[in-house]
Amino acid sequence: MKARNIALKIFEHGIENGFLTKDVWELTDVLDKRDRDFVRKLVYGTLRFNKSLDKTIDSFLRKPNKTPKRVRNLLKLGAYEILLLRVPEYASVNEYTEMVPYKFKGLVNAVLRSLAKSKENVSLNQSLPLWLYKTLKRDLRDDLDIYLKKSLGHELSIRAVKVEREKLKTEVSNLVNCKEMIYSPWGLTCSKGQNLKNAAFERGDFTFQDESSQLVAVAVDPKKDEKILDACGGVGTKASHFIQISPNSNVFYNDLNDKKRNIATSNFKRMGLFPTEMWNFDLLKDDISHLRLSFDKVLLDAPCSALGTLGKHPDVLLRIKQDDAEKKSNLQLEMLENVWGILKDGGTLTYSVCTVTKSETDGVISNFLKRHKDAKCVDPFSGKYEFGFNGFGIQLLKYMEGFYISKIVKV
Ligand SMILES: C[S@@+](CC[C@H](N)C(=O)[O-])C[C@H]1O[C@@H](n2cnc3c(N)ncnc32)[C@H](O)[C@@H]1O
Repeated sequence: MKARNIALKIFEHGIENGFLTKDVWELTDVLDKRDRDFVRKLVYGTLRFNKSLDKTIDSFLRKPNKTPKRVRNLLKLGAYEILLLRVPEYASVNEYTEMVPYKFKGLVNAVLRSLAKSKENVSLNQSLPLWLYKTLKRDLRDDLDIYLKKSLGHELSIRAVKVEREKLKTEVSNLVNCKEMIYSPWGLTCSKGQNLKNAAFERGDFTFQDESSQLVAVAVDPKKDEKILDACGGVGTKASHFIQISPNSNVFYNDLNDKKRNIATSNFKRMGLFPTEMWNFDLLKDDISHLRLSFDKVLLDAPCSALGTLGKHPDVLLRIKQDDAEKKSNLQLEMLENVWGILKDGGTLTYSVCTVTKSETDGVISNFLKRHKDAKCVDPFSGKYEFGFNGFGIQLLKYMEGFYISKIVKV
């Protein structure tokens, strides 16, 4: 199957399911590296600009409502290629024309050729649902442009685990161009996408992790003999980081999701970093009162609207709903309430989310502080970085990804 056919399949899977699963990317295994990169760029980009491309295509169709879904999807991929990837018309129009049944060949050919001549301007902000654009404009103000720019793509980020960062840089430099991250002392940013799952990865020399996420360990600051809980441990990236930094601390991992726990188990094994215990409590339903006052530190890396990850996961746009941030912020507050009780006096609760809405960030924290007179927010990085602590937490969007960290002390 040719690259564009595979791109169409993956794109349609995303539209139908609201998710791009790891399995569907396996379709690209038959392609060489260049084509694999092309498919990834094409699918991610078309998903990101999906809504704007729909509007653009409509303006070139005589009967937009009568155009079959498959033909419309194909036109969107073609339009993205021509208008945003700037692939020359001669290199793509014929390919897309070949992909449709005979009766639509004329239509596809004509629309894509007209598009190529039009040099239509397709913008990302028009690809966001209007309510989302308004929310982001209200919450981010002058930083909205930064947000939109960062949503256009994503560099690969890795964290050195078993080897020093310099050694890791040498190890992977034959595959990708890397540079040291500015703020995380463990991180490398890799500019050229390549399959990095090589021997060094299998040996546990590194793991994939964004810079903002690496800074969570700086905020938690794990120390020898401390009892630390990663309450929403996911695939174990942050818990493994705590163990890496402080092997003599006691790191506990929890996540209610079986699939995530299984991946975390194999990640811990690969990196040779094992938590003291692994749990599967549902933080919203299960009684965890037997753990009362037992932890020095708790991390709540809470489920969120994930709007800070649009560069990496444009499929977020396919499933986001208008009341998501509000609903999530209620759950985040409830989770904070539930883990607060298991923290020792003098202990710290670190809260993080990979999003940028005010309700899920400062909003949650300010509501929490109103309910707890024994809670005090501190600069998560104790003055180490000048990110601008606003009394609740820090939004890292200006410096790296859209990601929020807050640190609460139980006084
Ligand atoms: C943002 S992810 C955490 C990512 C993780 N910290 C990491 O670095 O890989 C949020 C996690 O919370 C888990 N989760 C969602 N609701 C939960 C609940 N009620 N109780 C426990 N875990 C929950 C999800 O399964 C998901 O893995």
